[in-house]
Amino acid sequence: MFKGSDRRARRTRWGATLAVSTLVLGIFGAAPAAAVAPEGLQAEGGPLPAPRIVGGTAVPNGKYKFQAALLGVPFGSDDYQRQFCGGSLISPWHVLTAAHCVDFIGDDSDDILALEDFRVVVGRTVLQWGNGVRRSVDRIDIHPDWDPDTFKFDAAVITLAAPVYLIKPVKLVTPGTDALERPGTEWVASGWGNTLAQPAGGTGGTNYPHRMREVTLSLLSATECLNAYTIEGDTYTHKATMLCAGRTGKDTCQGDSGGPLFQKAVTGGYIQLGVTSWGIGCAATGYPGVYTRLSNRSIGNFILEQMGEVPVQ
Ligand code: ARG
Repeated sequence: MFKGSDRRARRTRWGATLAVSTLVLGIFGAAPAAAVAPEGLQAEGGPLPAPRIVGGTAVPNGKYKFQAALLGVPFGSDDYQRQFCGGSLISPWHVLTAAHCVDFIGDDSDDILALEDFRVVVGRTVLQWGNGVRRSVDRIDIHPDWDPDTFKFDAAVITLAAPVYLIKPVKLVTPGTDALERPGTEWVASGWGNTLAQPAGGTGGTNYPHRMREVTLSLLSATECLNAYTIEGDTYTHKATMLCAGRTGKDTCQGDSGGPLFQKAVTGGYIQLGVTSWGIGCAATGYPGVYTRLSNRSIGNFILEQMGEVPVQ
């Protein structure tokens, strides 16, 4: 178990988290260490909670079938070791994820993973069980304004080599409509990411779960999101393309990126508001998780266009 997760952690670092570490290093580099010193974890001084997404719970078999696991075949000998990011099934042919999860995949010499070695699994709860639907990938479309230095427009659409008809896709918020973005509302994040809290600028160790986990987070206001990530006068969150969500001791973490931030839709099924993108540490006091804002007109319409749907004016 620990061997496996260590192996995977190494791989994850080469890939998906590489860009994030660069961003976070950039933030820490930009500010004197004192300004961003770890403020201490909630778990400090008390017994650590059982392993979680960070602060979440295990997902029962078959729940959230739209949740996708992104796999690199060369990254390991089973899907637990191969998984490096999350995603969500948004149509029979399409999986939404973060740009930073897939911007190292392709057939250029500087790519880390060849497209033919990339797989997507949906409908699976326990990574190494082998159930659900596994697909090769036809193409990856990254938002044209994706910026790995600032993490603006962290969205990409994966077109599967064959459709998935038996799993109900998650719905997406309407581009240009922020009606669901009320501060204080509750949203679920899910995935197979690290369950151990990470202090700002430090390491809290790794424990990657085999079973999907979920956590309920509350949405922050745009002002809170800007304030949390304004360090020494520099602001690292971008109102138009990012949302913040969190709760004391609860957060997404490395390996959850690309996965959905969603809630039950009044019309049935689930509706997705954000994509897990980045954060300083994980469940570190004062630093909520940052999610790609799907109500952004450019991001939302980009996704609709990839799905062959009509963009919203
Ligand atoms: N960037 C991470 C990944 O690649 C997810 C980070 C989420 N971090 C957070 N503190 N919410 O998996």
